[in-house]
Amino acid sequence: MIRITLIGSGNVAQHLIKAFAKSELTEIVQVYSRKKETLSSLIEFDKITSDFEDLKEADLYIIAVSDKAISDVSKQLPFQNRIVVHTSGAASLDVLDSKNRKGVFYPLQTFSKNKDIDFSTVPMCLEAENTFDFRVLETAAKSISNVVYAINSDQRKALHVSAVFVNNFTNHLYQIGQEICEEHQVPFEILRPLIQETAEKINTLNPAEAQTGPAKRCDSLTIEAHLDYLSTQNQKNIYKILTQSIQNNGKKL
Ligand SMILES: NC(=O)c1ccc[n+]([C@@H]2O[C@H](COP(=O)([O-])OP(=O)(O)OC[C@H]3O[C@@H](n4cnc5c(N)ncnc54)[C@H](OP(=O)(O)O)[C@@H]3O)[C@@H](O)[C@H]2O)c1
Repeated sequence: MIRITLIGSGNVAQHLIKAFAKSELTEIVQVYSRKKETLSSLIEFDKITSDFEDLKEADLYIIAVSDKAISDVSKQLPFQNRIVVHTSGAASLDVLDSKNRKGVFYPLQTFSKNKDIDFSTVPMCLEAENTFDFRVLETAAKSISNVVYAINSDQRKALHVSAVFVNNFTNHLYQIGQEICEEHQVPFEILRPLIQETAEKINTLNPAEAQTGPAKRCDSLTIEAHLDYLSTQNQKNIYKILTQSIQNNGKKL
């Protein structure tokens, strides 16, 4: 049984609390939250603390706070030589204070408090300073997910940047698509099956193989007509840069 203390009460902390609560291999000892009420529906009230000095002994401390607060929080922990990890894709291992044994417990998924997720499918990217600590992280990760990887800080940076492209930028393109539909009074819902199929194709084809459309076909007449039709300079700029990128496919510029 791995005894875990979570620090934070945001999106990731809340999903981790729910996931660990279902596991028989882990026990949540305590959760630190600046506002105790935030977590009152998720865990017994006497397990919530808002005072670092009250933290009890645990096998693993998971800091799931905003990236810019990780370093400060790790410095405030009133103990040493225990395993302390963060959950960030962007922060390096070294943002954690060296008085404890550092690690990373990064769930590569997009989490929102009010959207349930099947945690067993979330890839867990782990990093530790030694084999013993890695095994502790691995046991904790395997208790909630079927997909666990050893990923070092440099590899995690690559994954995080890639995730920005495949998740944040793609989602922003959905938003632009929605704006264009609204501007021309067409229901955005009509595009949902296309969005679904585009994502599903990646399960069987690599992205370059899956690409279709006017840019891939070098159909300059359609491209010019689209650029003419778009109403804002921002939409035109994004259209042009993505068209160029698709047409330069495979070439490193
Ligand atoms: N959301 C995702 O999709 C996702 C996915 C993978 C990894 N991550 C990583 O997971 C971590 C948490 O992200 P999140 O989305 O859960 O963030 P979030 O929902 O914005 O929550 C941030 C948490 O940090 C706490 N916090 C901020 N500053 C603090 C400080 N100075 N001292 C103590 N607590 C502080 C907040 O407390 P208050 O509520 O009191 O302000 C809140 O509990 C980040 O490192 C993020 O990069 C996020």
